[in-house]
Amino acid sequence: MKSERKLLNDRQKEFYDTKQKNAATRLWSFFRNGVLNRIKKDIGVERDIYDLHKSWFGDLSQKKVLDLGCYAGNSLSFYLAQNSKEYLGIDLSPKGISNLSRRLEKLPGARAEVMDFLSEDFKEKDFDVIYAYGVLHHFKNVDEIIAKLNEKLNQDGIIVSHDPLQSSLPIKFIRGIYRPFQSDKAWEWPFSKKTYYKFEEAFDIKERRGVLGKAKWSAFIGFIPISEAKRMEKAKAWHRGDWENSLKSDKHMFDCMHLSLLMQKKTQ
Ligand SMILES: C[S@@+](CC[C@H](N)C(=O)[O-])C[C@H]1O[C@@H](n2cnc3c(N)ncnc32)[C@H](O)[C@@H]1O
Repeated sequence: MKSERKLLNDRQKEFYDTKQKNAATRLWSFFRNGVLNRIKKDIGVERDIYDLHKSWFGDLSQKKVLDLGCYAGNSLSFYLAQNSKEYLGIDLSPKGISNLSRRLEKLPGARAEVMDFLSEDFKEKDFDVIYAYGVLHHFKNVDEIIAKLNEKLNQDGIIVSHDPLQSSLPIKFIRGIYRPFQSDKAWEWPFSKKTYYKFEEAFDIKERRGVLGKAKWSAFIGFIPISEAKRMEKAKAWHRGDWENSLKSDKHMFDCMHLSLLMQKKTQ
């Protein structure tokens, strides 16, 4: 008999392989990928996140890197594979892994494997860097994923993560409306305050940045009769505010839609 986790993994694998979404999920994807991603590009959110993650990685020349839940690789996967001593990308999706493997063919020391991070079959450990972009919120049991990350990380290893937050009330409300109809709800748990605090207790959070706090409202100021230049200026200023304030203030961080974390194993 397959365990609940294996059954869920199979459904998740199929979802990412076929990308079959119902109407509600397509609508949310349109808002998220269409409207929000355009804003993220236009006001520099996306570039800031990738630049930040790169700076958090530091010098990779002697590092063993795990790209957890890599699918076919994002903007930084190839960078990690090219610059690290050893790179391993793992994902549940055979389609994603076969695409990434083709791109990695000419890079010695880099490989990608179909693997469940939580499975006993995953024997690799002692990673210096675990990169998890859009991945940690796919694990229902936060304590289990924290224990596994600790098990796989070197003593001075770091985790670089990026996940959605569900702590902003308006976003929680919108998500709540569409969640019953969402195709991928069974394996999506955007971070609650409780989840964040569990990570904070388990790891040293060396730095953190939230995005789309105030800046998420730039999706709606399209209706206000001001010039495009003024709109941009406003949206960029909001983004700068989110970026700076979320570093120190939990309230500002929890108003954001997405959160990047640089975590380090606690000294024993
Ligand atoms: C939102 S996608 C992010 C993909 C990629 N990191 C990116 O930035 O485009 C989440 C990925 O996590 C993978 N994933 C979820 N649970 C996993 C697990 N237990 N082990 C390995 N990969 C997993 C999924 O298969 C999916 O491809």
